[in-house]
Amino acid sequence: MTEIETRLEAPSVKIGDVSLEHVAERPRPSGSPELREPIFQVRDVTVSYSGNPALSDVSLDIYRNCVTAFIGPSGCGKSTFIRCFNHMNALIPGATIDGTIMYHDQDLYGPEVDAVEVRKRIGMVFQKPNPFPKTIYDNIAFGPRVLGLNDNLSERVERALQQAALWDEVKDRLKASALSLSGGQQQRLCIARCLAVEPDVILMDEPASALDPIATTRIEDLMHELKQEYTIVVVTHNMQQAARVADMTAFFSVNQGAEGQRTGILVEYDATQKIFTQPADKRTEDYVTGRFG
Ligand SMILES: Nc1ncnc2c1ncn2[C@@H]1O[C@H](COP(=O)(O)OP(=O)(O)OP(=O)(O)O)[C@@H](O)[C@H]1O
Ligand SMILES: [Mg+2]
Repeated sequence: MTEIETRLEAPSVKIGDVSLEHVAERPRPSGSPELREPIFQVRDVTVSYSGNPALSDVSLDIYRNCVTAFIGPSGCGKSTFIRCFNHMNALIPGATIDGTIMYHDQDLYGPEVDAVEVRKRIGMVFQKPNPFPKTIYDNIAFGPRVLGLNDNLSERVERALQQAALWDEVKDRLKASALSLSGGQQQRLCIARCLAVEPDVILMDEPASALDPIATTRIEDLMHELKQEYTIVVVTHNMQQAARVADMTAFFSVNQGAEGQRTGILVEYDATQKIFTQPADKRTEDYVTGRFG
């Protein structure tokens, strides 16, 4: 029996400072693994900046209506990887991607694929809320207007704000500047802005790391709600957060080459419960128990 298993014998066990009660209770995502439907199939993906690989040889599937978390130490390539799913790396000079990412059985990087269309289907929320200096209404209406979705715009705005659990707080001040909202409200506004174009997938890169615990809880509750309709991929530094919100968790780490070059690798990917209670790899165990990183 590994040390981690021994420690798990006790009821209400904690690994590092991650309480596992809620993790242990959670059923595997969407029933048995065979029933899960892959929405992305990543195969042998390497991302390089100016020819230097930052993340090497990653293969995994992202499943529909699941929350998938990427965890791992700083610099292991989590942001680099999540940016691959909506062509955001294309905006970074010198960034190149090798390997394949299939999205609904279509090559996401095929020659006929339009990056703007991809970003409409696969929205992204960043660490720092970035509302436009416009009214609350105009922030949410921005994407639909760009895409020419002008019919029933007010209903669309309301629906997005409802889905992002912000409507009740802003319904009487839709003409106020979005910059007058609190940080947590601004982040929900950014989520609503993303939802207003009815995406298929929402990518979130540390969406709650700039927020206080209450605002963080609201974002986590929201992820739970939204996965009924959407597929969510989230980068987080916060292991309790991964344990609380994610169905699947991917642990990344950094390999140091002989000449000191550092390359991110995927160490282990599995149901969150498995990653936090019975990881297959010692490096994962060290990380989730707080002995590394
Ligand atoms: N725009 C860029 N140009 C060049 N190198 C980059 C760029 N972005 C990231 N890198 C490098 O790629 C590696 C992975 O960085 P990345 O930001 O993906 O890590 P991360 O896991 O998200 O880290 P953190 O937890 O600190 O956010 C790092 O070595 C970083 O310096
Ligand atoms: Mg990052």
